[in-house]
Amino acid sequence: MKLKGRLKLIYDMIPQCGTLCDIGTDHALIPAYALLNKRCCKAVATDIRKGPLDRARRTIEACNLLDDVDLRLGNGLEVINMDEADVIVLAGMGGVLITRLLGEQLDKAKKARRIIIQPMYTQEVVRPFLWQHGFAVVDEALTREGEKLYQVLVVSYDEAAGASSRKDPLYAVIGEGLIEKRDPLLEDWLCDRIKRQRKIVNGLRNAAGYRPGLEQEEALLQEMESLRINLFGNGGNM
Ligand SMILES: C[S@@+](CC[C@H](N)C(=O)[O-])C[C@H]1O[C@@H](n2cnc3c(N)ncnc32)[C@H](O)[C@@H]1O
Repeated sequence: MKLKGRLKLIYDMIPQCGTLCDIGTDHALIPAYALLNKRCCKAVATDIRKGPLDRARRTIEACNLLDDVDLRLGNGLEVINMDEADVIVLAGMGGVLITRLLGEQLDKAKKARRIIIQPMYTQEVVRPFLWQHGFAVVDEALTREGEKLYQVLVVSYDEAAGASSRKDPLYAVIGEGLIEKRDPLLEDWLCDRIKRQRKIVNGLRNAAGYRPGLEQEEALLQEMESLRINLFGNGGNM
């Protein structure tokens, strides 16, 4: 089995661990690959729907890993036990769903040594949620698959570290860690986010009547453009 792109980056961000809990596992490629490569000792693979969980079972069976994986049907972290998860993976879902699942079972989330988060969309809600609940982003990275860029965050509950992160709308979108480590895809990521932000601003500007949030969205766009110029100069791929 070989992983590439988004799934490979998620795997790469998983530390050596005891029990890996993959929430919303679908094909179960992440726990299967982690077990085959001895990144974890055992895994719990969960999904809210039977179809994806059957798909997960087929992967696990094909890899001869049935003794090492517990397959569980149910909602989010509800189906894992307190203290069970060393590392939790929440990947391939929207930021709103991911934060809802963490918020519903905060005690379990806080006990995990690491949580690997890979939001597919509405990623801007993830960091404010983490800031609010005392989680710190300990690492983050980007990858590209085809035209799309994906962001993976490694998170742990650490009120002191969480308190020191910069709680600013700019850093909710871009990620301080990506800037600090000069991620090789940071410029592409910034350009991608700026294009999206321009669409939001233009949509609001063209709307008739009341335009809620226009000033904040314009200010955020300006901050993103300034950051890009500060880091990469005026030329580039915009
Ligand atoms: C797009 S797949 C992502 C699969 C895999 N994690 C990945 O990153 O490739 C999202 C999966 O999350 C599952 N899911 C959605 N809501 C869920 C919930 N509340 N609890 C557990 N799983 C959920 C879906 O059934 C689906 O199989």
